[in-house]
Amino acid sequence: MNLKDKTAIITGASKGIGLAIAQEMLSKGMKVLITGRSQNSIHNALEQIPSELRSNIIGKTADVYSMTDMRACSQIIVDKWGKIDVVVANAGIGHFASIEDLTEEQWNETINTNLTGVFNTVKTTVEELKKTKGYIITIASLAGTNFFAKGSAYNASKFGLVGFTQAIMLDLRSYGIKCTTIMPGSVSTYFNNHTPSEADAWKIQPEDIAQVVTDLLNIPQRSLPSKIEIRPTQPPSK
Ligand SMILES: NC(=O)c1ccc[n+]([C@@H]2O[C@H](COP(=O)([O-])OP(=O)(O)OC[C@H]3O[C@@H](n4cnc5c(N)ncnc54)[C@H](OP(=O)(O)O)[C@@H]3O)[C@@H](O)[C@H]2O)c1
Repeated sequence: MNLKDKTAIITGASKGIGLAIAQEMLSKGMKVLITGRSQNSIHNALEQIPSELRSNIIGKTADVYSMTDMRACSQIIVDKWGKIDVVVANAGIGHFASIEDLTEEQWNETINTNLTGVFNTVKTTVEELKKTKGYIITIASLAGTNFFAKGSAYNASKFGLVGFTQAIMLDLRSYGIKCTTIMPGSVSTYFNNHTPSEADAWKIQPEDIAQVVTDLLNIPQRSLPSKIEIRPTQPPSK
């Protein structure tokens, strides 16, 4: 795919992995719409974009759990740039607690964001992607294949997301639409109230995931990497 002037929606891109993907795409000449739930976080993200690239980015407050919000995102990008080439379903949260302590609210928020949010993102863009033979990338996790204690909600959401992405890959490839799920290990972001620091040097960096995304877009149209696992090369020894 020649990336110049290609358009993308990236959910959950006010910080972390999503923002790094937006910055990488902008640096390659793409036009992007980024989402997050808070006006403030979207504002902060836009402040980090060099002024000469600001005309190529739209920041939209949108909750992936709201079909209405996601319909609006699709409409805005089509009205502004005429098409959608790439959708990155990245927005995600984590609640980690034993099943005895996990609350109904935490369960619902996890599934609503990490799973139903991706359904809403895909459902509101798929007709446009058919026109462009576009690309859907979901950001799952190694937690979508490795289960762990206190991970019931997060594991369920990410196992579900891996299954969802593989199934829609089979539904959509005959239209020329590609779907890939990326499954990272530990990435240095704000995930789960973490603050990135120098102690995170061993972790995958958000820009490493962003590079994988643009590399995927450059793979010849005939080939479709459907699932990618990414690990830190040298995690601390236990
Ligand atoms: N960090 C890791 O170690 C790691 C590893 C594997 C997979 N992942 C996955 O990577 C994805 C990105 O996470 P991250 O590490 O970059 O975390 P992050 O730094 O916390 O960023 C999460 C982003 O998602 C947005 N978001 C959260 N809920 C949303 C909702 N309902 N609607 C729209 N946007 C929402 C947040 O913006 P607002 O707060 O403004 O809403 C923020 O921009 C997630 O799906 C996560 O599960 C992360």
